[in-house]
Amino acid sequence: MRLVKTIAGLRSCVDGYRRQSCEIGFVPTMGALHAGHISLLERARAENDRLAVSIYVNPLQFGPDEDLDRYPQRLEADCQICAELEADLVFAPTAAEMGATSGETTRVQPPTPLLQVLCAPFRPGHFPGVATVVTQLLNLMQPTRAYFGEKDAQQLAIVRQLGHDLKLPGEICACPIVREPSGLAYSSRNRYLSDPEREQALALWRGLQRAQQLFQTGEREAIALIAAAKDELARSPAVAVQYVELVDPHQLTPLASVETAGLLGIAAYVGNTRLIDNVILRARRPIIAIDGPAGAGKSTVTRAVAQQLGLLYLDTGAMYRALTWLVWQAGLSLDDEAAIIELAHQADIQLLTDDQTLKLRAIANGTDVTTVIRSPEVTARVSAVAKIPAVRRYLVRQQRRWGEKGGIVAEGRDIGTHVFPDAELKIFLTASVRERARRRWHDFQALGRGDDLDLAQLEAEIATRDRLDSHRRIAPLRKAPDAIEIDTDGLSAAAVVAQIVNLYPRHDLAE
Ligand code: PAJ
Repeated sequence: MRLVKTIAGLRSCVDGYRRQSCEIGFVPTMGALHAGHISLLERARAENDRLAVSIYVNPLQFGPDEDLDRYPQRLEADCQICAELEADLVFAPTAAEMGATSGETTRVQPPTPLLQVLCAPFRPGHFPGVATVVTQLLNLMQPTRAYFGEKDAQQLAIVRQLGHDLKLPGEICACPIVREPSGLAYSSRNRYLSDPEREQALALWRGLQRAQQLFQTGEREAIALIAAAKDELARSPAVAVQYVELVDPHQLTPLASVETAGLLGIAAYVGNTRLIDNVILRARRPIIAIDGPAGAGKSTVTRAVAQQLGLLYLDTGAMYRALTWLVWQAGLSLDDEAAIIELAHQADIQLLTDDQTLKLRAIANGTDVTTVIRSPEVTARVSAVAKIPAVRRYLVRQQRRWGEKGGIVAEGRDIGTHVFPDAELKIFLTASVRERARRRWHDFQALGRGDDLDLAQLEAEIATRDRLDSHRRIAPLRKAPDAIEIDTDGLSAAAVVAQIVNLYPRHDLAE
């Protein structure tokens, strides 16, 4: 791992990564690393060729009465953590190196609507300071992906908007809040808390949970949800509440009621320490993400689960096929990535469930392509199209947009780890290599083509494919930590489907 403190050193490292065509995962931090940061580093490590971390306490984002002077600084210990997590690069500049020592510097001003709620009115100057440093860091680092925690939900919304508006490099990836077993969200500022204050600080999580429980019983009105959280907070007189607000998680507009999703945020002082926490209340129907190695029976199972639960089978493979059909129709060369990406961005690809037959239909630019996307011409081209990273990123974004309303089941290699990391139910469907080879052999037999097939050879092929799938650069196969593993050895497809249907969180179903 390399530690650089100058912009010149950083640029040189980044140039090297780009020359090697490496995907760069970037985690900006202010140091004093804890389990929350570590979750971002681990995800970035898993999803990219290179992991870069910045450790920089940015003076521009601190108000005159805030804790800049006593913010914990522990570069050596932080570097050790980064090294253990196999980071490639730590960028730890001084304020002078970043040009932040004089008040006279260009500042990036986020749009006003994002600054009218939550922390912004209480911390004027904070988010312009964050937006300025994030712009600098993304420009310097040129990441493929940059990782931000949902713990700082307003920061996340502002950074997303910033990246979009200023066309900054890097996909902004949101990571869930990591909590101590007590429920207290990890924060560098927790170090300021005395033992009794730590105890009192749990009121924030209890307040959020009270509102969440009420939400799960069907309450959607902001007034009631906020009152429930405030009521719980009021039981801890040592906690001085600054705000409890319910807003749209992306636009940050105040919500009178939750239709699809609402961000319930709290800020409060415990002693002299200001703490923030939040939950996202989702009214969507749950999403099921099914991942697993090739040949474990994912597509059969997914189709049946969709049918039994009345969910949309989000056939991500069909999306790539529909795009491939368009590429083929347009006569584009498979090497012409720019043309393919442009076509993808202009295409209108729809997946519809036929009301009568319950079969999935794929529509590309108004044409029903359900059948033609299974043609040999599309099959021969689809992997070349799907392996273009920008195509993949764009289609994943579309899949997530479909996911906003929920009620979806999707299968693949990275659905639970990457496409829907917040899916309510994640399944990792496996079967032993031997069992999968046996199934494949039976399939061939049924087609009358199994005579000269050797079971041992099939096993070897499957084992090789597993290895390749787990180590591939794009969409590698990994089991999400919160996925439920179902080993399908000796189970019929119907038995597997029944297990998944039983696991589906029905109490969340929208009426
Ligand atoms: P910092 O507070 O060090 O946080 C760095 C990243 O870690 C942020 O994206 C934050 O949301 C995330 N994070 C912190 N606690 C977390 C938790 N408990 N669970 C999940 N993620 C958590 O946020 C900043 O630094 C700065 O504003 C920065 C973006 C680096 C700009 O200076």
